[in-house]
Amino acid sequence: MNLIIAANWKMHKTAAETAAFCRELQKEESNFEGVDVIICPPFTALPTAGEILQGSKIKVGAQNIHWEEKGAFTGEIAASMLLEYGVEYVIIGHSERRHIFGENDMQINRKVKAAFNKGLKPILCVGETEDERHNGATELVLQRQLVSAFEGLNPEAINNLVIAYEPVWAIGTGRAATAEDAGNAGDYIHDLVREKLGVEVASRLRIQYGGSVKPDNIGSFVTLPSVAGALVGGASLATGTFINLITAARKAVLH
Ligand code: PGA
Repeated sequence: MNLIIAANWKMHKTAAETAAFCRELQKEESNFEGVDVIICPPFTALPTAGEILQGSKIKVGAQNIHWEEKGAFTGEIAASMLLEYGVEYVIIGHSERRHIFGENDMQINRKVKAAFNKGLKPILCVGETEDERHNGATELVLQRQLVSAFEGLNPEAINNLVIAYEPVWAIGTGRAATAEDAGNAGDYIHDLVREKLGVEVASRLRIQYGGSVKPDNIGSFVTLPSVAGALVGGASLATGTFINLITAARKAVLH
């Protein structure tokens, strides 16, 4: 199974900056064998990214969707609006959505269902806060987030499930989780998916680690048996660093 490395740009880059980045990255794509590379720019840059990367192995993802198809939801974007621009993936339930914008488990469940119904591939984010970790509640939090995200999903309709384990305290702090912690969380998530969605879905599941991933630490995550990639914020914003990160991940798994 290919690794999956996704760039979560958050609220960074105009369409012009996105165009320059995508052109640079595309020059390197022949060196990305064995890795699915996904760029998730802000909504306004999706048409540009989609156009430049059309026919490329590098895929485009959005950072959020609304669960309804259309309606009176000021400021929201529906799955069908993204598909129009060649978007294949969508990040759902990122900790910034949960903690800054108050998204709850029920809304995230609706978004996951909407993504699958419309043929978008969700990158579902889960992870505990620092307090939850100190209270020994990491697995409980992961269980709550995952069980509610899976509520009412038909395993037969799931062909491409990606789950990003992103401990909240590791995001943007420069303080990545240890490989041991990421591995334990990955194993737990894998087992829970097998229990709730079945062996088939679990066998195709790819788990990413996210939170202060850099070129010099990605190797310790992608070599874990239950981790198959990364969701990368800060280190995905400069082409050079992002390419180094992909190269480092390939090196770590290929030998
Ligand atoms: P970071 O962000 O790599 O800057 O820690 C990761 C994320 O929020 O997905």
